[in-house]
Amino acid sequence: MTELNKIALKILSDGKGILAADESNGTMTKRLESVNITSTSENRLLFRETLFSSECMTECIGGVILYDETINQSSISEKKIPTLISDSGAVPGIKVDTGAKVLANSSEEKITEGLDGLRERLKEYYLLGARFTKWRGVYNISEKYPSKLAINSNAHALARYSALVQECGMVPIVEPEVLMDGDHSADDCLIKTSEVIQKCFDELITHKIDLTGIILKPNMILAGNKSKNKISNEEVSFKTLECLKKSVPIEVPGVAFLSGGQSEIEATENLNLINKNNNTNFIMTYSYGRALQQSALKFWSKNIKDVKGTQNVFNHRAKMNTLAAQGKWSSDLENK
Ligand code: 13P
Repeated sequence: MTELNKIALKILSDGKGILAADESNGTMTKRLESVNITSTSENRLLFRETLFSSECMTECIGGVILYDETINQSSISEKKIPTLISDSGAVPGIKVDTGAKVLANSSEEKITEGLDGLRERLKEYYLLGARFTKWRGVYNISEKYPSKLAINSNAHALARYSALVQECGMVPIVEPEVLMDGDHSADDCLIKTSEVIQKCFDELITHKIDLTGIILKPNMILAGNKSKNKISNEEVSFKTLECLKKSVPIEVPGVAFLSGGQSEIEATENLNLINKNNNTNFIMTYSYGRALQQSALKFWSKNIKDVKGTQNVFNHRAKMNTLAAQGKWSSDLENK
């Protein structure tokens, strides 16, 4: 077993999942303002530190993805944030892309940037304690999109990123997110997501990536949020498994889904069914941002000093998702 494979398994095993707390300052400002909290660096830290000090960090959370601001901050007790996370038993991670920009010659699509100077930045993050990283490519679905140009250029960037991350001794999360925005069917999502993921693996293989030392972070297969033809949760699980089975090489240790705008319960229920019906060898777990933090953020915003109360809300959500990552969740557990 390689060191990279060990790190990946530490993050994903035993129903553990990933807390995606890597919102950029712009995105975090939107999240905080939606609950009437001013987005200062102190408030961003206070909310995140409340989560990172929760009980579920030991039992449920295998890894936390941080943003550059947070990885450089210290907690109230003056512990460095990556140390706070690793002391709880979870692995600190870092988002290293610099965002999705307009793709030249296909202006309705995006290309993710951040390769320039990446090798040097990775060394700094490693010294700060990070042992895994994230890079998100983003694709929209319509009749003509995602284009070959967007599929190929984002896959190439994800592969170059992964090579540099593994060179530095860290596990890359490879995140090709096919957005749920639009009126497309679930079958369109299945076809396009499969094409996107397959191209990513073509490039990862060309770039000699150790596939046992990566984590794939895909979207689930869903109908678009404006589609009139929604499918059942059971169908979501079958289509998601079909996509991954045909697109992901067997060496990959695990898949950690993004929530992508699903409600908290929907994201938990779909993950649970994916695990109940899992006919692959991949670990299937969560790497949720909104679907792990939404209700905790709402609760916290009512009284930002109520650390214990906020942690109870977060602990519950993390526990539900950890059960779902083992196919052991049921809706009646939500109210216990
Ligand atoms: P959501 O779970 O809110 O989609 O966020 C996950 C993530 O990390 C997106 O890049």
